Amino acid sequence: MTEAGTLTIDLGDRSYPIVIGPGLLAARERVDACIRARDVLVVSNQTVAPLWLAPLRAALAGRRISECILPDGEEHKTLAIVGRVLDALVEARMNRDCAVVALGGGVVGDIAGFAAACYQRGVDYVQVPTTLLAQVDSSVGGKTGVNHPGGKNLIGAFHQPVAVLSDTGTLDTLPERELRAGLAEVIKYGLIRDAGFFAWLEEHIEDLLAREPAALVYAIRLCCACKAAIVARDEHERGERALLNLGHTFGHAIEAAAGYGSWLHGEAVAVGMTMAAEMSARLGWLGRRDVGRIRALLQRAGLPPDPPRLGRARALELMRMDKKVASGRIRLVLLEAIGRATLTGDYPPAVLDSLLEDTVGKVA
Ligand code: NAD
Ligand code: GLY
Repeated sequence: MTEAGTLTIDLGDRSYPIVIGPGLLAARERVDACIRARDVLVVSNQTVAPLWLAPLRAALAGRRISECILPDGEEHKTLAIVGRVLDALVEARMNRDCAVVALGGGVVGDIAGFAAACYQRGVDYVQVPTTLLAQVDSSVGGKTGVNHPGGKNLIGAFHQPVAVLSDTGTLDTLPERELRAGLAEVIKYGLIRDAGFFAWLEEHIEDLLAREPAALVYAIRLCCACKAAIVARDEHERGERALLNLGHTFGHAIEAAAGYGSWLHGEAVAVGMTMAAEMSARLGWLGRRDVGRIRALLQRAGLPPDPPRLGRARALELMRMDKKVASGRIRLVLLEAIGRATLTGDYPPAVLDSLLEDTVGKVA
């Protein structure tokens, strides 16, 4: 389908729609249905605002609109920047019935969502994601927050948006490298839950790289449906939701060690998924043929195959700050098959040590 379609994330009285399709920002009735508040703070960044703020502003005509335009980049996903959004809310004299609208990728969405969670103990926010990664993952599910020099996404809150408006037309202006990074999260859904979707991706990855509209809408819708179902069952990540972090424990360590912004999140996740597949194979859980299929698909998507040489000790230090660590044990999302992931801390530490030595190096 290339026309707009709506999914619902079922969270009782906090349920919300995820509207997916091209041209949504120009469809006033769609925007009205998602953004009901009279007073709106649009949060965007210096790259996205010149491209996509005008149609959103036009669709919001008649409301009291304020804007907060942030510097672009993962390195700005900090507590200090959240302070700037909060200042903008106070300066605009926004009350509890306002809405924060996040127009941008996952960085803008995570910052704006966290500011909305904090302001006056929680106001509404609407996600208007403009990257593939944000449309398939970060805009859905209510994880908000910022980085700390000591670890990725260490400061944050669960705060669900009231709607997600995914205009797939905004992907037309997305740089190629960002599109590829988003594909890492798309492939993740096939790996954790849906072998059929993984096989579809093997057939259609070039269509996605070519931004073929029907292929994009199909993949985004399928990823959102998968995430919506998981979040509805386990909103606060007591169990199943952790599977959405396949590749992230390794990936977050790479992002933090390399310096936020130097590796894209999706690139780090792609390498992390290769490492998780390799570890699963070394434990005898995953066949070598499947490891090969995973590597091949990520490579065709133009994603990096190997991590930087950050060294085993530094990798372990950063991985120990991961939010899945329990009783001091690093729990990893590993694969039992393509389409079947599991969260476990039950593996011989020597297997992780040797995997790290062989991939990120014995020393930096
Ligand atoms: P991003 O927000 O940095 O966007 C990538 C780049 O593309 C930026 O330079 C941005 O300005 C630009 N951009 C965005 N939309 C554009 C468009 N339509 N046209 C041209 N340029 C555009 O990165 P991202 O990959 O979207 O998100 C990564 C972030 O999301 C990370 O911080 C990650 O931790 C977070 N994340 C959060 C969740 C969650 O559940 N909250 C899930 C996954 C990832
Ligand atoms: N991106 C992982 C999650 O939302 O749980």
